[in-house]
Amino acid sequence: MERILITGGAGLVGSECAKFFSLKGWHVITVDNYMRGRILGSEGDTSIVMRKLLREYNIEHHELDIRDDKICELLRRADAVIHTAAQSSHPQIDRDTSRELQYKRLWNPLYP
Ligand SMILES: NC(=O)c1ccc[n+]([C@@H]2O[C@H](COP(=O)([O-])OP(=O)(O)OC[C@H]3O[C@@H](n4cnc5c(N)ncnc54)[C@H](O)[C@@H]3O)[C@@H](O)[C@H]2O)c1
Repeated sequence: MERILITGGAGLVGSECAKFFSLKGWHVITVDNYMRGRILGSEGDTSIVMRKLLREYNIEHHELDIRDDKICELLRRADAVIHTAAQSSHPQIDRDTSRELQYKRLWNPLYP
């Protein structure tokens, strides 16, 4: 069975991707640190979305920050990756550009 790693799996785009690939018969591994919920409170609490997803779909979930080294082990196990972990463009979220750069550097080996 092919394995896909989806970062930001509790978010809007990531959770839809997780459902899609689960229904297609892939082994789905999701990662999310619930950052959005911590910033926005209940309005943005993606852990609720994740709990529902885990009840209804066959998904392996890890509560993890993508900058944590543990991500390497999950990457090694994956045949494909969809990277959606990001800072949303919600007005309440103060966009921290240094964090954005960390995300891009981590995921784009071509980034200078
Ligand atoms: N939603 C849209 O309509 C849309 C359209 C085009 C592009 N995009 C892009 O897709 C990406 C995802 O958008 P979204 O709407 O799903 O956002 P979202 O906020 O719903 O999901 C992002 C998820 O990433 C998680 N996350 C953030 N930092 C993390 C970290 N360090 N480690 C682990 N998880 C982390 C958050 O907790 C959240 O669940 C963004 O780059 C966005 O710009 C979204």
